[in-house]
Amino acid sequence: MTQHRKHHDRIEELRKLNAEAEAGGGAERREREHKQGKLSARERIDLLLDEGSFEELDKFVRHHCADFGMADQRPPGDGFVTGYGRIRGRLVYVFAQDFTVFGGSLSEANAGKITKIMDLAMRAGAPVIGLNDSGGARIQEGVVSLAGYAEIFLRNTLASGVVPQISAIMGPCAGGAVYSPAITDFIFMTRDTSYMFVTGPDVIKTVTHEEVTKQELGGAMTHNATSGVAHFISRDDAECLAMIRELLTYLPSNNLEDPPRRETTDPPERASAALNSLVPEDPQKPYDIKDAIHAIADDGEFFEVQEHYAKNMVVGFVRLDGRPIGIVANQPAFLAGVLDINASVKGARFVRFCDAFNIPLITFEDVPGFLPGTQQEFGGIIKHGAKLLFAFAEATVPKITVITRKAYGGAYCVMASKHIRTDINYAWPTAEIAVMGPEGAVGIVYKREIDRAPEVDREKIRREKIDDFRERFANPYVAAERGYVDAVIEPSQTRAKLIAALRSLENKRDTNPRKKHGNIPL
Ligand code: HXC
Repeated sequence: MTQHRKHHDRIEELRKLNAEAEAGGGAERREREHKQGKLSARERIDLLLDEGSFEELDKFVRHHCADFGMADQRPPGDGFVTGYGRIRGRLVYVFAQDFTVFGGSLSEANAGKITKIMDLAMRAGAPVIGLNDSGGARIQEGVVSLAGYAEIFLRNTLASGVVPQISAIMGPCAGGAVYSPAITDFIFMTRDTSYMFVTGPDVIKTVTHEEVTKQELGGAMTHNATSGVAHFISRDDAECLAMIRELLTYLPSNNLEDPPRRETTDPPERASAALNSLVPEDPQKPYDIKDAIHAIADDGEFFEVQEHYAKNMVVGFVRLDGRPIGIVANQPAFLAGVLDINASVKGARFVRFCDAFNIPLITFEDVPGFLPGTQQEFGGIIKHGAKLLFAFAEATVPKITVITRKAYGGAYCVMASKHIRTDINYAWPTAEIAVMGPEGAVGIVYKREIDRAPEVDREKIRREKIDDFRERFANPYVAAERGYVDAVIEPSQTRAKLIAALRSLENKRDTNPRKKHGNIPL
């Protein structure tokens, strides 16, 4: 009987401790969070993971700080919920910061919980997902909290390119704390409840006298549209977590795996008649490259990344023949698809992600060149454009390019041209591959001849020269003659051609020279 009672007591004690850990900062603080539209750390994990799959670790870790009255406030778990679970059956590691416990602040103890799951994820070869909602370094702990951050930053860096790392910002994320998400591969932000900044509005006011709200400074749209720090924006927590689940369907669990293939009923040879007339007759007229992307993708599905930033460059994931593919495309419907600093950086980072994780790349090209102007030159377009060039050139995953219209100048070389190891380069009959557009070319090459002609004839001569130039160079056949373009294809056949090329490249092997690492122009 006493023996039985003892067992019973021990189990009761465990249940009590579990309940205490699960209560976090208490009902009142939780209610405050719910009122703002925020879910609790545990509710978030439940929505993120497959039902019942979460295995919690370190639930009873407590902090060891005795200063500022902290000795009598030592809740089990210390404010972070960490562990592993499954997303569509696949293993992931996760941490969630609970704002109701000391504002979700990072302590020596709970930083250790994060580094522990990161180490496990690296050994298991599984993604790490961080649900951030924190007031930053735990002020009462001082430097040991900073040390905790640095331990996390180190692991983020070492894990980069080994396992996918995903950050969701679902509340505050300020100060140096932003640098963990910044090193990870993708940042999700919730629309009205999240913000990220290095220094907040109060400090900014003191230093620069600028007045700015938290949302304007570091809200979800600021980082999705203006700074390019974030990749996705969601209405609320639930949508954010659903988007993370979807993103993972395109990613392998680690750099030694291929991305997960999904059965598809969409026929590989499906033609898209509409693509034959997608590019307008008038080369100055825009069209939406996303129409082409949807048309070639399995079931028309395109999971766009950084939709709101540098819209002249479109990046994201599709499936072709059931296989995840990274798409990089100039967007003629925005700034004529020109390459500028932001578009180059956006494209480069995406290309490097895909290359690191064995995701083949398909490039759609319609680019009039690099954006001219002092703003771009002073801003370092040379260096930033070089990032895109470097990223494409070093990538060893299967690479396929489709030139739909303009491929001018340096931008021709940069956008996954044949010369930088692209495996298969297609062109549509509407392709124009040249050093520059006919107008610009005639203005330079025939300048003297036109200037010497009587003024009344000049415009006529100029027009003739432009037509002649267009006739001779603004087509895909000069490049095809040299083998720089492997095939000129009917646009309607693009899906079938891409799938054939991808199948031929299934066992592609290519390597870069041995080195510690390259020196991408940062
Ligand atoms: C300890 C913290 C805390 C922190 C918040 N709390 N931040 N406790 N350390 N960093 C506690 C509060 O005392 C409060 O406790 C509860 O969390 C909720 O905080 P509120 O201020 O009531 O919430 P809210 O009004 O929503 O404001 C959220 C906030 C604000 C904007 C994040 O709390 C804030 O400014 N916090 C400090 C941010 C900061 O300066 N962080 C540290 C330095 S920067 P009670 O018990 O009342 O509920 C940094 C650098 C990292 O982190 C360096 C890495 C290299």
